[in-house]
Amino acid sequence: MVPLLVILLTLTGAWAGRPVLLPPPHAADLVLPPDQWFTQKLDHNNPGDDRTWQQRYQVNDTFYQPGGPVFLMIGGEGPATAIWVVAGQWIEYAQQYGALCFQLEHRFYGESRPTADMSVENLQYLSSEQALADLASFSAAMTEQYALPEGTKWVAFGGSYPGTLAAWYRLKYPDMVHAAVSTSAPLLAKTDFLEYKQVVKDSIYAKSGEQCYMNVQQAFADAEQLLEHPIGWRSLTSAFQLCAAFDGTSSLDGNNLMQILADRIESVVQYNEDNRAFSGHKDANITIGSVCELMNDESMGVPIERLAALNDLIMTVHEETCVEHRYQSLIDKMTDLDFASENNDATRTWIWQTCTEFGWYQTAEGAEQPFGQHIPLSYYIQQCIDAYGPEYVWIYGGYDQSFVDAAVAATNAKYGGRDLATSRVVLVNGSIDPWHAMGVIVSSDPALPAVYINGTAHCANMYPARAEDSPELVAARQQIGDLIGQWLQED
Ligand SMILES: *[C@@H]1O[C@H](CO)[C@@H](O)[C@H](O)[C@H]1NC(C)=O
Ligand SMILES: *[C@@H]1O[C@H](CO)[C@@H](O)[C@H](O)[C@H]1NC(C)=O
Ligand SMILES: *[C@@H]1O[C@H](CO)[C@@H](O)[C@H](O)[C@H]1NC(C)=O
Ligand SMILES: *[C@@H]1O[C@H](CO)[C@@H](O)[C@H](O)[C@H]1NC(C)=O
Repeated sequence: MVPLLVILLTLTGAWAGRPVLLPPPHAADLVLPPDQWFTQKLDHNNPGDDRTWQQRYQVNDTFYQPGGPVFLMIGGEGPATAIWVVAGQWIEYAQQYGALCFQLEHRFYGESRPTADMSVENLQYLSSEQALADLASFSAAMTEQYALPEGTKWVAFGGSYPGTLAAWYRLKYPDMVHAAVSTSAPLLAKTDFLEYKQVVKDSIYAKSGEQCYMNVQQAFADAEQLLEHPIGWRSLTSAFQLCAAFDGTSSLDGNNLMQILADRIESVVQYNEDNRAFSGHKDANITIGSVCELMNDESMGVPIERLAALNDLIMTVHEETCVEHRYQSLIDKMTDLDFASENNDATRTWIWQTCTEFGWYQTAEGAEQPFGQHIPLSYYIQQCIDAYGPEYVWIYGGYDQSFVDAAVAATNAKYGGRDLATSRVVLVNGSIDPWHAMGVIVSSDPALPAVYINGTAHCANMYPARAEDSPELVAARQQIGDLIGQWLQED
């Protein structure tokens, strides 16, 4: 039924697969504090191992009032840039409460490189558990270095995976951290995170309605038909500006292409209308609204041609020259062990954490989603095997999905999943953020209040305020600030 599209549109990959918190905008005249380095232990699980490495952090002491609290921004699966130490909502709270502010980069990301390279032997030291222990030893050392008075209260902040760490830090180290603000945090580990694409559906409906949804679904149905036939392969190659001719003999290439195309829409939804503009995020004005305008525009041709036009637009904004759909090039990149390589965009390290701890694979295996049937769990499990290889299998003792399932079960056993057994953690979620589906269900426990922001995407409350912020977002920032104030009064 798809006309074998003689798509003259030349057509398009980043991925929303990671729950990354993007840096906030900043004025060019902001002076950033210098990076500093902390001597950190390599293996907190082995008291006999005294190897150390240098962990990056930054400090902002401008608002500190002696005797005030300490705020700790937890780094995640990307570089911890100094921008976050001078901007963002938590800095407003720091001014309000006279807090000393630290940001600590996560081990194995950014400049915090504990080992010589990213071999599987070395990646054994990359885990949420080691990262939490890093936070504790850093806090203890800074308490001494800054001669902080006894009883100084630390408050942890984090958005996305670091939001998860903020909650878990309070859970596992209640004596080190008094309270936590956990934003857009997935708390439940799950191998097949099919809910992600379902929230994308709900968000498209909520923001733009059924027509847009149906057009997205049609575009992917058409693309799937093209996967089936050599003539279709040629259309896909030209329509989506692939770097090499599509060759449908490997289903993994087809899986990879479909996920790249799904990501064109998912990343817009995940970061919809947030305030990340002019921090280098040139795509900040591409919103669900503008994507849907395009997907509904009949003058652009049939739905797959409109998807091709969206791909063109995003390629232009990101200055991509072509779309690399080949699975093998993904694996080539993921098997580069060199921290300094241009291939290191944290894919190898983050996927390691998903394979060994979290799962969170955004498959198209759910029914209620628009992206077809070609993004299966096996595509992601294969990446674990191909990227970490025989040594990986040696560690986890199996060549199938069960090793991820076992890792995910162990993570939930360790941290409790959605049943967070702690107190003074505020859990913030945004209704259109696909990650909220792994977050916490409405809490009846006053010690673990949930703040739900109707209409916002991933981590919206952490960015600096703007005039166009919704009343819900403004109220949420106020509510979180009030909770911090209230908790700082408690012993
Ligand atoms: C702390 O942040 C404030 C607000 O952006 C900024 O004015 C100040 O210069 C920062 N202080 C340091 C030491 O960077
Ligand atoms: C986004 O902004 C750029 C300029 O920064 C502009 O060229 C582009 O047309 C805008 N895109 C949309 C979808 O509004
Ligand atoms: C987000 O928070 C609201 C209010 O607490 C709650 O109703 C909703 O279920 C939460 N969503 C998720 C999935 O965390
Ligand atoms: C969220 O906002 C939308 C539109 O602004 C509204 O229709 C909807 O009822 C709101 N939902 C909740 C749970 O407040």
